[in-house]
Amino acid sequence: MKYPLEPFKYIVTEMLPLPTEAERKKLLEDASYNLFEVPADRVTLDLLTDSGTGAITREQQACSARGDESYAGSPSWLRRLKPSIQTFTGLYGDVVPVHQGRGAENVLADIYLNRDDVVLSNTLFDTTRGNFEQRGALCMDCPADEYSSEPDGAFKGNMNIRLLEDKIKFYKDRVKLIVLVATNNSGGGQPVSTQNIEAVSFIAGEHNIPFLLDACRIAENAFFIHRHSVRVHDDWASVPEIIQAAFRHADLAFMSLKKDGLAHMGGFIVVNRKQLVASRTRAIQVGAILKEGFKTYGGMSGKDMEIAAQGLREVVNPVYLRHRVGQVEYLHAKLKALGYPLVEPAGGHGVFIDAKALLPHIPPEQFPGHALAVAFYEKGGIRGVEVGSLMFGENARREFLRLAIPRLMYTENHMGYVAAVAAEIFNDRHALRGFQIIEGADDPARHFSCKLKPL
Ligand code: F0G
Repeated sequence: MKYPLEPFKYIVTEMLPLPTEAERKKLLEDASYNLFEVPADRVTLDLLTDSGTGAITREQQACSARGDESYAGSPSWLRRLKPSIQTFTGLYGDVVPVHQGRGAENVLADIYLNRDDVVLSNTLFDTTRGNFEQRGALCMDCPADEYSSEPDGAFKGNMNIRLLEDKIKFYKDRVKLIVLVATNNSGGGQPVSTQNIEAVSFIAGEHNIPFLLDACRIAENAFFIHRHSVRVHDDWASVPEIIQAAFRHADLAFMSLKKDGLAHMGGFIVVNRKQLVASRTRAIQVGAILKEGFKTYGGMSGKDMEIAAQGLREVVNPVYLRHRVGQVEYLHAKLKALGYPLVEPAGGHGVFIDAKALLPHIPPEQFPGHALAVAFYEKGGIRGVEVGSLMFGENARREFLRLAIPRLMYTENHMGYVAAVAAEIFNDRHALRGFQIIEGADDPARHFSCKLKPL
Protein backbone atom coordinates (compact mmCIF):
# COMPACT_ATOMS: atom_id res chain seq x y z
CA MET A 1 0.00 0.00 0.00
CA LYS A 2 1.25 3.46 -0.89
CA TYR A 3 1.76 5.87 1.96
CA PRO A 4 -0.48 8.92 1.61
CA LEU A 5 1.41 12.15 0.93
CA GLU A 6 1.87 13.98 4.20
CA PRO A 7 -0.14 17.13 3.48
CA PHE A 8 1.80 19.14 6.05
CA LYS A 9 5.36 20.07 6.93
CA TYR A 10 7.17 20.40 10.24
CA ILE A 11 7.72 23.84 11.72
CA VAL A 12 8.77 22.84 15.24
CA THR A 13 10.46 19.51 15.97
CA GLU A 14 11.67 17.51 18.94
CA MET A 15 14.41 14.87 19.03
CA LEU A 16 13.09 11.41 19.79
CA PRO A 17 14.23 9.76 23.03
CA LEU A 18 16.33 6.71 22.19
CA PRO A 19 16.89 4.65 25.36
CA THR A 20 18.80 1.41 24.80
CA GLU A 21 17.16 -1.99 25.21
CA ALA A 22 18.96 -2.49 28.54
CA GLU A 23 17.63 0.88 29.76
CA ARG A 24 14.14 0.00 28.62
CA LYS A 25 14.23 -3.29 30.53
CA LYS A 26 15.23 -1.42 33.68
CA LEU A 27 12.54 1.23 33.08
CA LEU A 28 9.92 -1.50 32.77
CA GLU A 29 11.03 -3.05 36.04
CA ASP A 30 10.98 0.35 37.78
CA ALA A 31 7.46 0.94 36.40
CA SER A 32 6.25 -2.44 37.75
CA TYR A 33 5.45 -3.26 34.12
CA ASN A 34 2.75 -0.60 33.99
CA LEU A 35 3.44 1.44 30.84
CA PHE A 36 1.54 4.43 32.26
CA GLU A 37 4.38 4.69 34.80
CA VAL A 38 7.12 5.01 32.16
CA PRO A 39 8.25 8.66 31.77
CA ALA A 40 7.30 9.96 28.31
CA ASP A 41 10.84 11.21 27.68
CA ARG A 42 11.94 7.57 27.83
CA VAL A 43 9.53 6.53 25.07
CA THR A 44 10.73 6.55 21.45
CA LEU A 45 7.36 6.45 19.68
CA ASP A 46 4.39 7.14 21.92
CA LEU A 47 1.32 5.36 20.55
CA LEU A 48 -0.36 5.16 23.96
CA THR A 49 -3.15 7.48 22.89
CA ASP A 50 -4.26 9.93 20.23
CA SER A 51 -5.86 12.06 22.94
CA GLY A 52 -4.38 15.54 23.38
CA THR A 53 -1.01 14.32 22.13
CA GLY A 54 -0.98 15.56 18.53
CA ALA A 55 0.89 18.48 16.96
CA ILE A 56 -0.96 21.75 16.44
CA THR A 57 -0.98 23.82 13.29
CA ARG A 58 0.64 27.22 12.75
CA GLU A 59 -2.84 28.81 12.77
CA GLN A 60 -3.71 27.13 16.06
CA GLN A 61 -0.46 28.34 17.57
CA ALA A 62 -1.20 31.88 16.39
CA CYS A 63 -4.74 31.69 17.81
CA SER A 64 -3.47 30.53 21.20
CA ALA A 65 -1.65 33.85 21.63
CA ARG A 66 -4.96 35.67 21.95
CA GLY A 67 -6.27 33.35 24.66
CA ASP A 68 -8.21 35.46 27.15
CA GLU A 69 -8.05 34.15 30.69
CA SER A 70 -11.00 36.08 32.18
CA TYR A 71 -12.97 34.08 34.70
CA ALA A 72 -16.33 35.29 33.37
CA GLY A 73 -17.24 36.16 29.80
CA SER A 74 -13.95 35.31 28.09
CA PRO A 75 -14.10 36.17 24.38
CA SER A 76 -12.10 32.98 23.78
CA TRP A 77 -15.34 31.19 24.67
CA LEU A 78 -18.07 33.67 23.70
CA ARG A 79 -16.57 34.89 20.44
CA ARG A 80 -14.46 31.94 19.38
CA LEU A 81 -14.95 28.44 20.83
CA LYS A 82 -18.72 28.56 21.34
CA PRO A 83 -19.47 29.78 17.79
CA SER A 84 -16.96 27.28 16.40
CA ILE A 85 -18.74 24.42 18.25
CA GLN A 86 -22.08 25.68 16.94
CA THR A 87 -20.83 25.73 13.35
CA PHE A 88 -19.20 22.30 13.75
CA THR A 89 -22.27 20.64 15.30
CA GLY A 90 -24.92 22.63 13.48
CA LEU A 91 -26.68 23.06 16.83
CA TYR A 92 -27.27 26.59 18.02
CA GLY A 93 -28.79 25.87 21.43
CA ASP A 94 -27.03 25.45 24.74
CA VAL A 95 -23.35 24.57 24.80
CA VAL A 96 -21.55 23.85 28.06
CA PRO A 97 -17.74 23.83 28.21
CA VAL A 98 -15.90 21.12 30.18
CA HIS A 99 -12.21 20.47 30.69
CA GLN A 100 -12.21 17.18 28.76
CA GLY A 101 -14.52 14.30 27.83
CA ARG A 102 -14.63 12.69 31.25
CA GLY A 103 -15.69 16.00 32.80
CA ALA A 104 -18.80 15.79 30.62
CA GLU A 105 -19.32 12.16 31.60
CA ASN A 106 -19.15 13.04 35.26
CA VAL A 107 -21.62 15.93 34.97
CA LEU A 108 -24.06 13.88 32.88
CA ALA A 109 -23.80 10.81 35.11
CA ASP A 110 -24.87 12.84 38.15
CA ILE A 111 -27.88 14.22 36.32
CA TYR A 112 -29.11 11.20 34.42
CA LEU A 113 -28.16 8.16 36.47
CA ASN A 114 -29.00 6.55 39.76
CA ARG A 115 -28.42 3.13 41.29
CA ASP A 116 -29.63 0.23 39.11
CA ASP A 117 -30.37 2.42 36.10
CA VAL A 118 -29.31 0.87 32.81
CA VAL A 119 -27.12 2.44 30.10
CA LEU A 120 -26.94 0.85 26.66
CA SER A 121 -24.15 1.60 24.20
CA ASN A 122 -22.33 0.28 21.14
CA THR A 123 -19.22 0.13 23.39
CA LEU A 124 -18.60 2.57 26.23
CA PHE A 125 -15.10 3.95 26.66
CA ASP A 126 -13.45 3.06 29.98
CA THR A 127 -13.82 6.48 31.66
CA THR A 128 -17.46 6.71 30.53
CA ARG A 129 -18.19 3.30 31.98
CA GLY A 130 -16.28 4.24 35.16
CA ASN A 131 -18.22 7.49 35.64
CA PHE A 132 -21.56 5.79 35.02
CA GLU A 133 -20.80 2.80 37.24
CA GLN A 134 -19.77 5.14 40.05
CA ARG A 135 -23.42 6.22 40.09
CA GLY A 136 -24.44 2.58 40.50
CA ALA A 137 -25.66 2.23 36.91
CA LEU A 138 -25.51 -1.03 35.03
CA CYS A 139 -23.70 -0.47 31.70
CA MET A 140 -24.18 -2.84 28.79
CA ASP A 141 -22.50 -2.84 25.40
CA CYS A 142 -24.47 -3.89 22.33
CA PRO A 143 -21.84 -3.91 19.56
CA ALA A 144 -22.71 -4.89 15.99
CA ASP A 145 -22.32 -8.52 15.04
CA GLU A 146 -18.74 -9.13 14.05
CA TYR A 147 -19.46 -10.06 10.47
CA SER A 148 -22.66 -8.20 10.00
CA SER A 149 -24.51 -8.97 6.80
CA GLU A 150 -26.29 -5.64 6.92
CA PRO A 151 -25.79 -3.48 3.84
CA ASP A 152 -23.58 -1.21 5.88
CA GLY A 153 -21.40 -4.06 7.16
CA ALA A 154 -18.36 -1.86 6.58
CA PHE A 155 -19.46 -0.03 9.73
CA LYS A 156 -18.43 -2.37 12.46
CA GLY A 157 -18.68 0.32 15.10
CA ASN A 158 -22.46 0.21 14.80
CA MET A 159 -24.87 -0.43 17.62
CA ASN A 160 -26.48 -3.86 17.36
CA ILE A 161 -30.07 -2.73 16.84
CA ARG A 162 -31.65 -6.09 17.60
CA LEU A 163 -29.75 -6.39 20.86
CA LEU A 164 -30.60 -2.79 21.76
CA GLU A 165 -34.31 -3.44 21.27
CA ASP A 166 -34.15 -6.70 23.24
CA LYS A 167 -32.46 -4.97 26.16
CA ILE A 168 -34.99 -2.13 26.13
CA LYS A 169 -37.78 -4.69 26.17
CA PHE A 170 -36.18 -6.50 29.06
CA TYR A 171 -35.09 -3.56 31.23
CA LYS A 172 -37.99 -1.25 30.28
CA ASP A 173 -38.04 1.96 32.34
CA ARG A 174 -34.69 1.21 33.88
CA VAL A 175 -32.95 2.25 30.65
CA LYS A 176 -32.02 5.88 31.25
CA LEU A 177 -29.46 6.59 28.51
CA ILE A 178 -28.49 5.23 25.12
CA VAL A 179 -24.92 6.18 24.22
CA LEU A 180 -23.53 5.92 20.71
CA VAL A 181 -19.75 6.26 20.50
CA ALA A 182 -18.50 7.37 17.06
CA THR A 183 -16.02 6.11 16.11
CA ASN A 184 -16.30 3.13 18.39
CA ASN A 185 -12.95 3.40 20.16
CA SER A 186 -12.93 0.30 22.35
CA GLY A 187 -14.45 -1.68 19.47
CA GLY A 188 -11.40 -1.03 17.27
CA GLY A 189 -11.88 2.59 16.18
CA GLN A 190 -14.56 1.37 13.77
CA PRO A 191 -17.05 3.82 12.30
CA VAL A 192 -20.79 4.03 12.86
CA SER A 193 -23.02 4.43 9.78
CA THR A 194 -25.56 7.16 9.13
CA GLN A 195 -28.30 4.51 9.00
CA ASN A 196 -27.27 3.23 12.41
CA ILE A 197 -27.28 6.73 13.93
CA GLU A 198 -30.77 7.24 12.50
CA ALA A 199 -32.00 3.87 13.78
CA VAL A 200 -30.67 4.50 17.30
CA SER A 201 -32.24 7.94 17.29
CA PHE A 202 -35.59 6.51 16.19
CA ILE A 203 -35.62 3.77 18.84
CA ALA A 204 -34.54 6.16 21.59
CA GLY A 205 -37.32 8.55 20.54
CA GLU A 206 -39.93 5.81 20.47
CA HIS A 207 -39.11 4.84 24.04
CA ASN A 208 -38.47 8.36 25.27
CA ILE A 209 -34.92 7.51 26.33
CA PRO A 210 -32.31 10.27 25.91
CA PHE A 211 -29.85 9.51 23.08
CA LEU A 212 -26.35 10.72 23.98
CA LEU A 213 -23.75 10.93 21.21
CA ASP A 214 -20.10 10.55 22.27
CA ALA A 215 -18.57 12.60 19.47
CA CYS A 216 -14.83 12.44 20.32
CA ARG A 217 -13.86 11.22 16.86
CA ILE A 218 -16.89 12.35 14.89
CA ALA A 219 -14.82 13.91 12.08
CA GLU A 220 -12.99 10.63 11.46
CA ASN A 221 -16.34 8.85 11.59
CA ALA A 222 -17.78 11.31 9.06
CA PHE A 223 -14.83 10.78 6.74
CA PHE A 224 -15.51 7.02 6.67
CA ILE A 225 -19.16 7.68 5.85
CA HIS A 226 -18.20 10.21 3.19
CA ARG A 227 -15.72 7.84 1.55
CA HIS A 228 -18.09 4.88 1.72
CA SER A 229 -20.99 6.80 0.24
CA VAL A 230 -18.83 8.08 -2.61
CA ARG A 231 -17.46 4.59 -3.33
CA VAL A 232 -20.57 2.50 -2.86
CA HIS A 233 -23.56 4.73 -3.48
CA ASP A 234 -21.94 7.28 -5.77
CA ASP A 235 -23.58 9.71 -3.46
CA TRP A 236 -21.98 12.79 -2.02
CA ALA A 237 -22.33 14.57 1.30
CA SER A 238 -19.56 16.74 2.73
CA VAL A 239 -17.81 15.92 5.99
CA PRO A 240 -19.38 18.92 7.83
CA GLU A 241 -22.84 17.93 6.59
CA ILE A 242 -22.38 14.37 7.82
CA ILE A 243 -21.13 15.59 11.20
CA GLN A 244 -24.11 17.94 11.58
CA ALA A 245 -26.57 15.19 10.67
CA ALA A 246 -25.13 13.03 13.46
CA PHE A 247 -25.52 15.80 16.06
CA ARG A 248 -29.02 16.56 14.80
CA HIS A 249 -30.12 12.99 15.50
CA ALA A 250 -28.91 13.02 19.11
CA ASP A 251 -30.77 14.51 22.06
CA LEU A 252 -27.52 15.62 23.55
CA ALA A 253 -23.86 15.05 22.82
CA PHE A 254 -20.47 15.45 24.40
CA MET A 255 -17.09 15.69 22.80
CA SER A 256 -13.56 15.47 24.07
CA LEU A 257 -11.76 18.18 22.10
CA LYS A 258 -8.51 16.28 22.69
CA LYS A 259 -9.32 14.07 19.72
CA ASP A 260 -11.08 15.66 16.75
CA GLY A 261 -10.85 19.11 18.32
CA LEU A 262 -7.12 18.85 17.48
CA ALA A 263 -6.51 20.35 20.92
CA HIS A 264 -4.44 19.44 23.94
CA MET A 265 -7.29 19.96 26.37
CA GLY A 266 -10.99 20.66 26.25
CA GLY A 267 -14.50 19.40 25.75
CA PHE A 268 -18.15 20.35 25.63
CA ILE A 269 -21.71 19.18 26.12
CA VAL A 270 -24.29 20.31 23.60
CA VAL A 271 -28.04 20.04 24.04
CA ASN A 272 -30.23 19.42 21.04
CA ARG A 273 -33.77 18.26 21.67
CA LYS A 274 -34.99 20.64 24.29
CA GLN A 275 -38.33 19.00 24.99
CA LEU A 276 -36.62 15.82 26.14
CA VAL A 277 -33.81 17.38 28.10
CA ALA A 278 -35.16 20.82 28.93
CA SER A 279 -35.60 20.22 32.62
CA ARG A 280 -32.08 18.90 32.71
CA THR A 281 -30.33 21.64 30.70
CA ARG A 282 -30.13 23.96 33.67
CA ALA A 283 -28.88 21.11 35.83
CA ILE A 284 -26.16 20.37 33.26
CA GLN A 285 -25.11 24.02 33.29
CA VAL A 286 -25.08 24.25 37.08
CA GLY A 287 -23.39 20.85 37.46
CA ALA A 288 -20.66 21.90 35.04
CA ILE A 289 -20.07 25.16 36.92
CA LEU A 290 -19.58 23.28 40.19
CA LYS A 291 -17.43 20.50 38.80
CA GLU A 292 -15.66 21.93 35.78
CA GLY A 293 -15.51 25.72 36.03
CA PHE A 294 -17.58 28.76 35.14
CA LYS A 295 -19.81 28.49 32.07
CA THR A 296 -17.44 30.51 29.91
CA TYR A 297 -14.36 28.33 30.38
CA GLY A 298 -15.36 24.97 31.93
CA GLY A 299 -11.87 24.06 33.06
CA MET A 300 -10.10 25.14 29.87
CA SER A 301 -7.58 27.96 29.70
CA GLY A 302 -8.24 30.72 27.18
CA LYS A 303 -5.38 29.30 25.11
CA ASP A 304 -6.98 25.84 25.09
CA MET A 305 -10.25 27.36 23.89
CA GLU A 306 -8.58 29.26 21.06
CA ILE A 307 -6.66 26.19 19.92
CA ALA A 308 -9.81 24.05 19.92
CA ALA A 309 -11.88 26.74 18.16
CA GLN A 310 -9.39 26.68 15.28
CA GLY A 311 -8.98 22.88 15.52
CA LEU A 312 -12.70 22.31 14.89
CA ARG A 313 -12.39 24.39 11.72
CA GLU A 314 -9.33 22.49 10.46
CA VAL A 315 -10.35 18.93 11.34
CA VAL A 316 -13.14 18.80 8.74
CA ASN A 317 -10.66 19.34 5.89
CA PRO A 318 -10.91 16.17 3.77
CA VAL A 319 -7.23 16.50 2.79
CA TYR A 320 -6.29 16.25 6.46
CA LEU A 321 -8.74 13.39 7.11
CA ARG A 322 -7.63 11.42 4.05
CA HIS A 323 -4.07 11.46 5.37
CA ARG A 324 -5.17 10.75 8.93
CA VAL A 325 -7.12 7.63 8.02
CA GLY A 326 -4.59 6.70 5.30
CA GLN A 327 -1.72 6.70 7.80
CA VAL A 328 -3.58 4.26 10.04
CA GLU A 329 -4.41 2.10 7.01
CA TYR A 330 -0.75 2.09 6.00
CA LEU A 331 0.42 0.78 9.38
CA HIS A 332 -2.47 -1.71 9.36
CA ALA A 333 -1.40 -3.05 5.94
CA LYS A 334 2.23 -3.37 7.08
CA LEU A 335 1.32 -5.37 10.20
CA LYS A 336 -1.15 -7.50 8.29
CA ALA A 337 1.54 -8.38 5.74
CA LEU A 338 3.69 -9.63 8.64
CA GLY A 339 0.91 -12.01 9.68
CA TYR A 340 -0.55 -10.06 12.61
CA PRO A 341 -4.21 -10.80 13.35
CA LEU A 342 -5.88 -7.36 13.39
CA VAL A 343 -9.26 -5.75 13.75
CA GLU A 344 -10.37 -5.44 10.14
CA PRO A 345 -10.61 -3.06 8.44
CA ALA A 346 -8.31 -0.37 9.85
CA GLY A 347 -10.05 1.97 12.29
CA GLY A 348 -9.81 5.73 12.40
CA HIS A 349 -7.20 6.44 15.04
CA GLY A 350 -5.11 3.35 15.53
CA VAL A 351 -4.35 -0.26 14.74
CA PHE A 352 -5.81 -2.87 17.06
CA ILE A 353 -3.86 -6.14 17.23
CA ASP A 354 -5.80 -9.22 18.33
CA ALA A 355 -3.39 -10.41 21.01
CA LYS A 356 -5.52 -13.41 21.94
CA ALA A 357 -5.19 -14.82 18.42
CA LEU A 358 -1.51 -13.88 18.20
CA LEU A 359 -0.56 -15.34 21.59
CA PRO A 360 -2.86 -18.34 22.16
CA HIS A 361 -0.47 -19.64 24.82
CA ILE A 362 -1.30 -16.67 27.09
CA PRO A 363 -4.84 -16.93 28.54
CA PRO A 364 -6.92 -13.72 28.98
CA GLU A 365 -6.37 -13.78 32.76
CA GLN A 366 -2.66 -13.38 32.04
CA PHE A 367 -3.29 -10.35 29.80
CA PRO A 368 -1.98 -11.22 26.31
CA GLY A 369 -2.57 -7.63 25.11
CA HIS A 370 -0.42 -6.32 27.90
CA ALA A 371 2.30 -8.90 27.23
CA LEU A 372 2.43 -7.59 23.67
CA ALA A 373 2.44 -3.96 24.84
CA VAL A 374 5.44 -4.69 27.07
CA ALA A 375 7.20 -6.43 24.16
CA PHE A 376 6.77 -3.39 21.88
CA TYR A 377 8.30 -1.15 24.52
CA GLU A 378 11.09 -3.52 25.41
CA LYS A 379 12.08 -4.24 21.79
CA GLY A 380 11.57 -0.81 20.26
CA GLY A 381 10.65 1.83 22.83
CA ILE A 382 7.14 1.91 21.31
CA ARG A 383 4.35 2.47 23.82
CA GLY A 384 0.87 1.17 23.01
CA VAL A 385 -1.98 0.31 25.34
CA GLU A 386 -3.80 -2.88 26.21
CA VAL A 387 -7.55 -2.78 25.62
CA GLY A 388 -8.70 -6.06 27.14
CA SER A 389 -8.91 -7.89 30.44
CA LEU A 390 -6.43 -5.61 32.18
CA MET A 391 -8.48 -2.52 31.26
CA PHE A 392 -12.01 -3.94 31.46
CA GLY A 393 -11.71 -6.95 33.78
CA GLU A 394 -14.67 -9.27 33.38
CA ASN A 395 -16.35 -6.90 30.92
CA ALA A 396 -13.56 -7.39 28.36
CA ARG A 397 -14.79 -8.78 25.07
CA ARG A 398 -11.46 -8.96 23.26
CA GLU A 399 -7.76 -8.84 24.04
CA PHE A 400 -6.27 -6.00 21.99
CA LEU A 401 -3.05 -4.08 21.84
CA ARG A 402 -3.99 -0.66 20.52
CA LEU A 403 -1.35 1.36 18.69
CA ALA A 404 -3.01 4.80 18.56
CA ILE A 405 -1.50 7.40 16.27
CA PRO A 406 -1.29 11.01 17.50
CA ARG A 407 -2.48 13.54 14.92
CA LEU A 408 -0.06 15.36 12.57
CA MET A 409 2.98 14.04 14.37
CA TYR A 410 4.64 10.91 13.03
CA THR A 411 5.89 10.14 9.53
CA GLU A 412 6.03 7.25 7.09
CA ASN A 413 9.46 6.39 8.41
CA HIS A 414 8.10 6.16 11.95
CA MET A 415 5.41 3.75 10.76
CA GLY A 416 8.13 1.72 9.02
CA TYR A 417 10.03 1.57 12.31
CA VAL A 418 6.92 0.26 14.11
CA ALA A 419 6.59 -2.43 11.43
CA ALA A 420 10.27 -3.40 11.78
CA VAL A 421 9.91 -3.82 15.56
CA ALA A 422 6.65 -5.70 15.01
CA ALA A 423 8.43 -8.11 12.65
CA GLU A 424 11.02 -8.91 15.31
CA ILE A 425 8.32 -9.51 17.95
CA PHE A 426 6.28 -11.64 15.56
CA ASN A 427 9.19 -14.03 15.05
CA ASP A 428 9.72 -14.40 18.82
CA ARG A 429 6.05 -14.35 19.80
CA HIS A 430 6.09 -17.87 21.25
CA ALA A 431 8.60 -16.73 23.88
CA LEU A 432 6.35 -13.95 25.26
CA ARG A 433 4.97 -14.53 28.75
CA GLY A 434 1.82 -13.42 30.50
CA PHE A 435 1.52 -11.08 33.48
CA GLN A 436 0.04 -11.15 36.94
CA ILE A 437 -1.27 -8.15 38.90
CA ILE A 438 0.56 -7.89 42.23
CA GLU A 439 -1.05 -4.66 43.52
CA GLY A 440 -4.22 -2.69 42.76
CA ALA A 441 -6.27 -5.41 41.02
CA ASP A 442 -9.48 -3.98 42.51
CA ASP A 443 -8.75 -0.26 41.92
CA PRO A 444 -11.29 1.51 39.70
CA ALA A 445 -9.69 1.89 36.24
CA ARG A 446 -6.95 -0.40 37.52
CA HIS A 447 -4.90 -0.37 34.32
CA PHE A 448 -3.73 3.16 35.19
CA SER A 449 -2.43 2.31 38.63
CA CYS A 450 -1.85 -1.41 39.18
CA LYS A 451 1.53 -3.09 39.52
CA LEU A 452 2.36 -6.23 37.57
CA LYS A 453 5.00 -8.90 37.30
CA PRO A 454 5.87 -11.20 34.41
CA LEU A 455 5.03 -14.86 34.88
N1 F0G B 1 -15.04 8.74 24.97
C1 F0G B 1 -14.19 8.12 24.13
C2 F0G B 1 -14.71 7.32 22.99
C3 F0G B 1 -12.81 8.25 24.32
O1 F0G B 1 -11.97 7.64 23.49
C4 F0G B 1 -12.34 9.03 25.41
C5 F0G B 1 -10.91 9.14 25.67
C6 F0G B 1 -13.27 9.65 26.24
C7 F0G B 1 -14.62 9.48 25.99
C8 F0G B 1 -12.86 10.51 27.40
O2 F0G B 1 -12.33 11.71 26.95
O3 F0G B 1 -9.91 11.63 27.61
O4 F0G B 1 -11.05 13.78 27.09
O5 F0G B 1 -11.58 12.57 29.16
N2 F0G B 1 -10.07 8.45 25.09
C9 F0G B 1 -8.61 8.48 25.22
C10 F0G B 1 -8.04 7.25 24.56
C11 F0G B 1 -8.10 8.71 26.58
O6 F0G B 1 -6.83 7.00 24.76
O7 F0G B 1 -8.73 6.55 23.84
P1 F0G B 1 -11.15 12.45 27.75
